[in-house]
Amino acid sequence: MKKTFSGVQPSGDLHLGNYLGAIRNWVRMQDEYDATFCVVDLHAITVEQNPDELRRRILDVTKMYIALGIDPDKSTIFVQSDVVEHTELCWILNCVSARMGDMEKMTQFKDKSARGSAQRASVGLFDYPVLMAADILLYDTNVVPVGEDQVQHVELARTLARRFNKKFGDTFIVPQPKLTKEGKRIMGLDDPIKKMSKSATSKDNYIALMDDVEVVRKKIRKAVTDSGSEVIYSDNKPALQNLINIYSLLSGKEIADIENDYIGKGYGDFKSDLADVVIAFLKPFQEKFAKISDDEVKQILKNGAKTAKIRAQEKMKLVKEKIGFVI
Ligand code: TYM
Repeated sequence: MKKTFSGVQPSGDLHLGNYLGAIRNWVRMQDEYDATFCVVDLHAITVEQNPDELRRRILDVTKMYIALGIDPDKSTIFVQSDVVEHTELCWILNCVSARMGDMEKMTQFKDKSARGSAQRASVGLFDYPVLMAADILLYDTNVVPVGEDQVQHVELARTLARRFNKKFGDTFIVPQPKLTKEGKRIMGLDDPIKKMSKSATSKDNYIALMDDVEVVRKKIRKAVTDSGSEVIYSDNKPALQNLINIYSLLSGKEIADIENDYIGKGYGDFKSDLADVVIAFLKPFQEKFAKISDDEVKQILKNGAKTAKIRAQEKMKLVKEKIGFVI
């Protein structure tokens, strides 16, 4: 059975972009793949986190996975820091596979560090893509379902795997990224040129999975639209294109049918229906979320860590042999 691995950082509010770009694919893939989904807390601390909030978010992100349809009986769900082999492999890859030249190309680091001062960014933020490569390579992952913003990092994982294999002999599977066509890059509601982002300065940028009905309606009402008034899907209307994508992905309706439904109607009608579609998705999700207890989640994470650890240790044994650590 082919293997899939992916993860989300327990930082900020999870939003529709995280779901439509990544987690929705995970739910489908868990039936066809040997699936592992991680809550990547080591990645989260590459920027400052409040410990109490982090603790809460790790549990909540796990609950979200489950409420969105990840089944702990089918998939392994665990917290990254529970399996120390991630950091161990990260260090080894840092030394024997990753080069400064690879890292300096990483656009996410450039964007993120540019927001503060690059001089004050943590070393961890710079090294984050190597840790992500370690996550992927530890589990012999064939396919990595992510949004478009993570593709460059999966490409790096491919490069590091190939380089390691060439130097030390076959050790790692070279993974493939997997994207969805319309969901791979959900844009910000307040700025359709930038992706929807947990770390956006304004909460109006995203629809959080935990937003309540009134907030969702307000955010969609306020969402930026393009000039004109017709509801058509066109590259000249990036804001509307994004909203139609969200509508189509959540309702299952074809884009052409949505356009047809709004002939002779305006943005106002469309936005009000879009809010209904989003709420129809979020409400049952939030109800499921509320029913999952902390204790239940802790048990799931404990079991998941046990399974992940066995696999990770096996892989690390091979890696250590290859590089000359086993005497
Ligand atoms: P993170 O936590 O930023 O995002 C989680 C997932 O959501 C996707 N995503 C989006 N997709 C479409 N439109 C958007 N606006 C949007 N915003 C976010 C991301 O592409 C991602 O798939 N480094 C990763 C987490 C990670 C990981 C891994 C992923 C750590 N190790 C190993 C895969 C495999 C991250 O920060 O994702």
